[in-house]
Amino acid sequence: MIELRQVSHSFGSGWVLRDVSLQVGSGQIVAVVGASGCGKSTVLNFISGLLHPTEGEVRVHGRPVTGLQPHKIGYMFARDGLLPWRTAQANVELGLELQHKPDRRRTALRFLEMVGLADAGGKHRSELSQGMRQRVALARTLAPDPDVLLMDEPFAALDAQTRLALSSRFLTLCQARPYTVVWVTHDLAEAVSLSDEVVVLGDQPARVVARHRVPFGRPRDLVPLSTQPEFQRLVSRLWDDIGTPVLS
Ligand SMILES: Nc1ncnc2c1ncn2[C@@H]1O[C@H](COP(=O)(O)OP(=O)(O)OP(=O)(O)O)[C@@H](O)[C@H]1O
Ligand SMILES: [Mg+2]
Repeated sequence: MIELRQVSHSFGSGWVLRDVSLQVGSGQIVAVVGASGCGKSTVLNFISGLLHPTEGEVRVHGRPVTGLQPHKIGYMFARDGLLPWRTAQANVELGLELQHKPDRRRTALRFLEMVGLADAGGKHRSELSQGMRQRVALARTLAPDPDVLLMDEPFAALDAQTRLALSSRFLTLCQARPYTVVWVTHDLAEAVSLSDEVVVLGDQPARVVARHRVPFGRPRDLVPLSTQPEFQRLVSRLWDDIGTPVLS
């Protein structure tokens, strides 16, 4: 479904990524983790077609990615990107409008309900907390029903309870509608909880330093899962792969 073949990239001064290869099967959820600045968002940008790698090839559905394919790919950026002059509801309707989808109001409301914001549809961005904005952005990404979801730290601004509730709801949704997902998180336990595979990028130039298959099927119950020794072993393996963080 998604394939990166020996992708290398330079923004002009040295390599940022070197020989990164990745395969994501249909309906799989793959997390990309690694230190800040190592190239995770850049990988999502390649898959979305926003950015073209200096070397190597990116394929989605077996075809080389040559430009944006917004009707097939939903991309939730790390920043919410909501239009401030539109209400939450109208922001969720945006992608549906661009694709001339019918029944936009009802679809948007369904996804606002899914993120727990059915009552906030009339609010503007300035009236929403950061976590609420992120949830609207998730609803907006899901509403046009893309096959592929790219999500950059989708749950980062949420408090612990909302984060757990929303991420379990997201997994439930993935059972009914098996999106192919590549997502980025800084939370290694969250990466294991929600994914079928976790890919670790090393420091610059980033390469894939490890990939771990997550040994838990789906659906899964997130709270009991996190107390299992196998879960905790995998999280500490990921810490080992990433290494001790150093700020320069
Ligand atoms: N448009 C750009 N021009 C020049 N350099 C860039 C550009 N975009 C990203 N970079 C550089 O590429 C590297 C990877 O950036 P990227 O945003 O992919 O990192 P990241 O892993 O997503 O980081 P974070 O976890 O902090 O979001 C960084 O060193 C960054 O400075
Ligand atoms: Mg990033």
